[in-house]
Amino acid sequence: MVGIANHALAAGDGGADGETVSLAIVGPELHARVLALAPHPFQRAWSGVPADTLGPAERDPHQWPVAILLDGEPVGFLVLHGGVSAGRFVRPRGELLIRAFFVDAAHQRGGIGRRALALLPAFASGLEPSLSRLVLTVNDTNEVAQRAYTRAGFLDTGERYQRPGGGPQLVLELPV
Ligand SMILES: CC(C)(COP(=O)(O)OP(=O)(O)OC[C@H]1O[C@@H](n2cnc3c(N)ncnc32)[C@H](O)[C@@H]1OP(=O)(O)O)[C@@H](O)C(=O)NCCC(=O)NCCS
Repeated sequence: MVGIANHALAAGDGGADGETVSLAIVGPELHARVLALAPHPFQRAWSGVPADTLGPAERDPHQWPVAILLDGEPVGFLVLHGGVSAGRFVRPRGELLIRAFFVDAAHQRGGIGRRALALLPAFASGLEPSLSRLVLTVNDTNEVAQRAYTRAGFLDTGERYQRPGGGPQLVLELPV
């Protein structure tokens, strides 16, 4: 696995509306602006907030903190996590767990999550060339996120996970 030093790594879609959604590793130039992002308060239990999730991802060589950019400005965040510490639902090689995914509250429902998820397989393959599968867990009551993931092609593995302090989680996968 490569480290997070390649801050220039980015991919974008050039949307028909003229606004481009892209993904980029969070480096020093994006750090403060990503920290300012957050989902709606009632959604925080599902994704966390960068104040809690960004720092640990930056410090862990097995995690990549990823900014979702709209015309170059951060509007969302996710973490790609590989290796043994990513947990039992991903193999240590060739698979990555998506964590902490959200679109900033002010930018939701505009297609940014959908477009970010469409970019993710190619972006993640650039980080992990042997990538064959993306995996994530989602709360069984989080129907909006489940819908976004399903529309992006994720499939229910049928596995279930009881998150400590949270509700039951579905385990979804996207073959890459
Ligand atoms: C899930 C999330 C990232 C989607 O991002 P988004 O930019 O708002 O989503 P999009 O506008 O691209 O919409 C994606 C799909 O979800 C649907 N959707 C989005 N927000 C919705 C809402 N509040 N109610 C109903 N449907 C909604 C859209 O209709 C769309 O489905 P469609 O293509 O069938 O129309 C965003 O809602 C979010 O940040 N949620 C809080 C954090 C979270 O739950 N993260 C997941 C942790 S596992």
